[in-house]
Amino acid sequence: MPKSTILAIETSCDETAAAVVEGSAEGQVIRDVRIRSNVVASQAATHQRYGGVFPEIAAREHVGAITSTIEAALRSAFPHQPLTTPLCPDQNRDFEGQANHQSLFSHIDAIAVTVGPGLIGSLLIGVEAAQALAMSFKLPIIGVNHLDGHFFSTFIPAPPEFPVVALIASGGHTMLVWASSPWRRTPLGTTRDDAVGEAFDKVAKLLGLGYPGGPQIEELAGRSTKNPLMFPTTLLNDCSFSYSGLKTAVRQFVEAQPRPIPEHIKAQIAAGFQHAAFEQIVGQTLRVVATRKSATVVVGGGVALNKVLHTKLRKALPGVTIRFPQPALTGDNAAMIGVAALWQQLRTKPVRRYALEAQADLKLML
Ligand code: KG4
Ligand code: ZN
Repeated sequence: MPKSTILAIETSCDETAAAVVEGSAEGQVIRDVRIRSNVVASQAATHQRYGGVFPEIAAREHVGAITSTIEAALRSAFPHQPLTTPLCPDQNRDFEGQANHQSLFSHIDAIAVTVGPGLIGSLLIGVEAAQALAMSFKLPIIGVNHLDGHFFSTFIPAPPEFPVVALIASGGHTMLVWASSPWRRTPLGTTRDDAVGEAFDKVAKLLGLGYPGGPQIEELAGRSTKNPLMFPTTLLNDCSFSYSGLKTAVRQFVEAQPRPIPEHIKAQIAAGFQHAAFEQIVGQTLRVVATRKSATVVVGGGVALNKVLHTKLRKALPGVTIRFPQPALTGDNAAMIGVAALWQQLRTKPVRRYALEAQADLKLML
């Protein structure tokens, strides 16, 4: 496969995202990956008042943002080829922009879109937009698993040395995967209740912080000058995770505090929660690395942005190469979907059949 340029779309949760990504296949490896654009329209401000994502509203916001986000990704990827008319001209205008659109899309080889897992209403907006564009410009389409997006976000600038232990830590997932090659994967454990990012969001809500809670908990914990409070740390025997006990312990502690809770106590709670949450992740990762004897760990997902997690993993795993995605590729974004699509093209040819289905509970393909 020569060089391939992909327009990627991601709408699985509360980020409307589009990106243009290119890369070249060399045997079974994708090289020279270049992210030409990576645009994310976050709905965080909208969901702030609910302390989490409100699915109906998320879907409606995607409808409002999808076209302008795709346009922004195209403009930024091809600055010398301006988009002269909107992708969806209003009904009163004729299609004078067709020629401009055709020549712009002639640089694109395929359209990739997240088909799951995620919120069904949100997924559908991205899938339908991608199919409409692919159909209009007669381009092949590639359905991508969101978890593959987080996994392959760690393959930039170059793929890791295999075998790897992959840790996906996000608002929807906490899972450990053993990968002997990019596509030969075995899931080792996942969460039994909340995902780690979700626990950060819920504890942030308890402390009266905004959404998403992860960055705010990290920041508040960093301001704690005392030892963190000690909350229970879970370490299940089977490589799975659980955050319900920790969440309840934090809630009970918060409820027992006199109001208003002083800032330094809130900081100590945030630090204690963060410590306990990461003890579990580090403990399980350490166990897998020791039993599988892997020298590479890759970490993807929104929680991979947390610097305390970086430090704790590096300290617990000396001699092990640990790769985190670049910051712009940690939280949900479309560039990671484009990169996953480039790798996916090595094993399945993209098709010009516009029958993709969104699947809310899609599992990681093995
Ligand atoms: O990957 P992502 O954008 O969406 C999902 O696929 O779920 O992850 C979002 C999650 C949120 O729960 C957010 O609170 C968490 O990632 N997060 C963090 C940090 N930045 C984002 N958690 C801890 N520390 C952070 N710095
Ligand atoms: Zn995600």
